[in-house]
Formats: sequence, structure tokens, C-alpha cells
Amino acid sequence: MKIIESTDAAQAHVRERRAKSVLVPTMGALHRGHLELLRVAREHAGKDGEVAVSIFVNPLQFEPGSDFKKYPRPESTDAKFCEDAGVNLLFRPREMYFDDRSVYVEETRLSAGLCGASRPGHFRGVCTVVAKLFNLLAPNAAVFGEKDYQQLAIIRRMVRDLNFPIEVIGVPTVREADGLALSSRNQYLNTDGRAAAPVLYQAMLRVKELAANGENSVTRLIDAARGVIESAKDARIDYISIVDRENLQPLERLRPNAFIALAVFIGKTRLIDNLRLT
Ligand code: PAJ
Repeated sequence: MKIIESTDAAQAHVRERRAKSVLVPTMGALHRGHLELLRVAREHAGKDGEVAVSIFVNPLQFEPGSDFKKYPRPESTDAKFCEDAGVNLLFRPREMYFDDRSVYVEETRLSAGLCGASRPGHFRGVCTVVAKLFNLLAPNAAVFGEKDYQQLAIIRRMVRDLNFPIEVIGVPTVREADGLALSSRNQYLNTDGRAAAPVLYQAMLRVKELAANGENSVTRLIDAARGVIESAKDARIDYISIVDRENLQPLERLRPNAFIALAVFIGKTRLIDNLRLT
């Protein structure tokens, strides 16, 4: 596995490269969810293609007062994880931004609601860093998880609207046996928090069950989800929304292509999840 730690070296690598390349952007602290993305990336790259992983804890997407400083950075464990997973290129730049940077990439429609409403500037940070990674590493395809469904939708929109010649591939959420979606942030949870965390999935399953039994009032469905979450100790709802999968607009009545998305604080840890309902 080749490791590249500067943007200049990344561009030199791309100039010399012949093979098809599939990129998996991450912030590290790699887990089984990321591993699934790597597996899908290999499927698309083929055995002679390049699977590239980027690890960069992107300061631009952390709002002030959030967990940028304490975000886990297990550098050597992550490198071994990538090596063992058959990754060809690990790009972990020490620096990505100029001090006097003045250009950003901003999606203005899909970013308005859900996590965008509670994390101002977050998706601008995500789009800017992903656009930079796309330019630096010039992959043929890039793989993202459906766990961050709004992020995936926004990246697809950015690629479409800015004509990046890159195929965006979405991968279903990988979960623990009790339903908790894998996330680098799960390691912030203490024992009580870990025990409470599956409540996000339980709430979504409850809504799915009610929907399957014919309930189509979004207000009532969200109330049901709220009831499940409020039954857990130390759980505080940031948002629960039922939206259209394409345009992420809130729905009043269930219709085809609806999904539920939620963000819940378990103690101080903010977890997100989503599930297709119809
Ligand atoms: P990070 O949180 O490290 O996630 C990297 C990728 O892994 C994302 O596409 C995310 O959706 C996916 N992922 C995380 N947990 C998953 C799970 N349980 N199942 C399936 N996929 C999962 O998302 C980011 O980093 C950053 O915002 C980034 C895109 C790298 C830009 O900085």
C-alpha cells in the first residue's frame, strides 16, 4: 500500500497512474461500516484497479464548539486496517487548506433541512473537502455510506451540478447486532449510553411497522418515534423528520419514497440514522 501525505505528492501520483481508481473518503477511526465501503470500492475498481482511501479530519465541517479536537485519530491502526483490507493508496494529507483560502463549494437546497439546520456550515465544509479530494485524486468513482443519507444526496447533487466526471456509489448502512449504526462517534458512548443507543433504530422500526399497518399521518408517526426515544435514559432529540428520498423535503402524509431521518443526543454524543419507510 502506498501512503501519500501531501497534496503535491497526490497529484504526481495521479499523473503517473494508469488504472481505474475508486475513492473512499473518510475521517478515519475506521470500522466495519468503512470496511463495507472498501469492499464495494474493490468490486467497482476490479482486481487491477486502485482502491484509494482518504483520511482527513476536516476542520471545515466541524462547527465551533463541536468535537473536532477530540475526534479520534488512531493513525497506525487505521493504516493497518487499510493495508489488511487491500487498499492500494492511503491519502492522509497533513494539510489541505491555504491560510488565506477564499473559495468554498456550497449546496444550497438539500442542505437546508435535517442535519444542515442544526449544523450550520457543516455541508459547505463537506462539499469543499470532497471537491478538493475529487480534484486531487481524480477518481473514476467514489463510495459513500447511506448512513449519512443527506451527505450522500448532497454529494450526488454537487457532482451533477458541477459536472464532476465521477460516479457516486451509495452503500447501505452497516449495523451492530442490536441495530445501532456503526459510527466513529460510537466510541464516545459510555456503558449506559451504548445500552441506550439502539433506541434510534428501535424508533425507526416502530414507525416502519405503523406505516406498514396503514398509518400515514406523518405527525402521528413522528410522535410514535418521539415516544420510543423519550423512553430511553439520557436521550435528547435533535430532530426527527420524514422526508422524500429525492428532494429531502418534509412530507405531511406518507407516500412512496419516504424515509425517516433522525438525530439524537445520547448524553453528549450526537448520533444520526435513517431508514426507508415506503
Ligand atoms: P466518516 O464519518 O469517516 O464516514 C466516511 C464514510 O463512511 C461516509 O460515506 C459514511 O457515510 C460512511 N459510513 C460511516 N458509517 C457507516 C455505516 N455504519 N454504514 C455504512 N457507511 C458508513 O462522512 C465523512 O467521514 C466525512 O463527512 C467525509 C465524507 C469524509 C468528508 O470529510
